[in-house]
Amino acid sequence: MIVSAQKAAVLIQSGHVVALPTETVYGLAADASNVLAVRKIFELKRRPADNPLIVHVADVAQISAFSDVSSDILTRLIERFWPGPLTLVLPKKPSVLDIITAGLDTVALRMPDHTKTLSVVRRAGPVAAPSANRSGRPSPTRPEHVSDDFGKDLPVVDGGSCSIGLESTVLDISGEDPTILRPGKISAEEIEDLLGRKILSESSSSEQNKRSPGTRYSHYKPHAEVQWKKSLPLSSHQTNCLYIYHTQNPDSDSDNIICFNGNFEGLARSLYDLYRTADKKKYKKIIIEPLPDTSFSSLIPAIFNRIERSVSQ
Ligand code: TXA
Ligand code: MG
Repeated sequence: MIVSAQKAAVLIQSGHVVALPTETVYGLAADASNVLAVRKIFELKRRPADNPLIVHVADVAQISAFSDVSSDILTRLIERFWPGPLTLVLPKKPSVLDIITAGLDTVALRMPDHTKTLSVVRRAGPVAAPSANRSGRPSPTRPEHVSDDFGKDLPVVDGGSCSIGLESTVLDISGEDPTILRPGKISAEEIEDLLGRKILSESSSSEQNKRSPGTRYSHYKPHAEVQWKKSLPLSSHQTNCLYIYHTQNPDSDSDNIICFNGNFEGLARSLYDLYRTADKKKYKKIIIEPLPDTSFSSLIPAIFNRIERSVSQ
């Protein structure tokens, strides 16, 4: 059910769950100070209780209810990247609900870059919001994706298609060394340039050190088998498979052969929608051209991360 931003704020204040658009993916939002409302998110998504949620704020003053950290690094990151696709993990205040942080001593915060959602959060106060998909489904990048997963009765603020299409970069600045726990549109290089220091990446540290609980869970795997394309002669394109190329391909006028011609923003924006379409059309396989190195686009680590986690082993 499509609702206005004003109605969404009223619903959230009275303990309901509402799907909100952001520049990355749609989020399933509840009042971050209402434990019963936040519990509904876990029930609706069927999300494991040990996977914490991101709190979304509309202005910097709203941070103070969740963390009392103030550091030069935090100030610079916020000035440069907020509102935007950067989630910051900070030491939490004791008053933050355990259900949000899954009992961790840190809290994840982000200010999304979407006018409608900022206006909801300004009125209703900070909201806890994971991506608005059922656990195990691709993140939603359009309002229809949300109703496909949760039915037509769930209130959704219509923000059209998400402009980025992949979830935010998660950067942990609660410890000694800033560490990327999940790659996103804002790259390690951009953060390094701003802070003038090396940024670690979770994927380069050992399995036991994993600080982002979400990365422990198997990511969305479509019914179709996702594979990196090794080498494939053109003549072997099959009608029951979806082919995703980032380069050009002469057969690209077929419905099942999608070419991005070097447009990695376009690939990021469409990836989850293509996965959902492949399932609807009951394709057997999704075959993806291996990605080039990051000199082609700073989005490549994020795109690679999401595809790699959906590839059939
Ligand atoms: O772009 C996004 O970040 C979207 C939109 C809706 O804002 N949200 C999103 O939420 O992707 P979710 O719940 O699907 O992913 C949040 C990730 C999970 O991997 C979770 O484990 C991690 O952030 N996370 C949340 N709180 C954390 C914390 N305190 N420490 C480490 N990781 C945390
Ligand atoms: Mg998610």
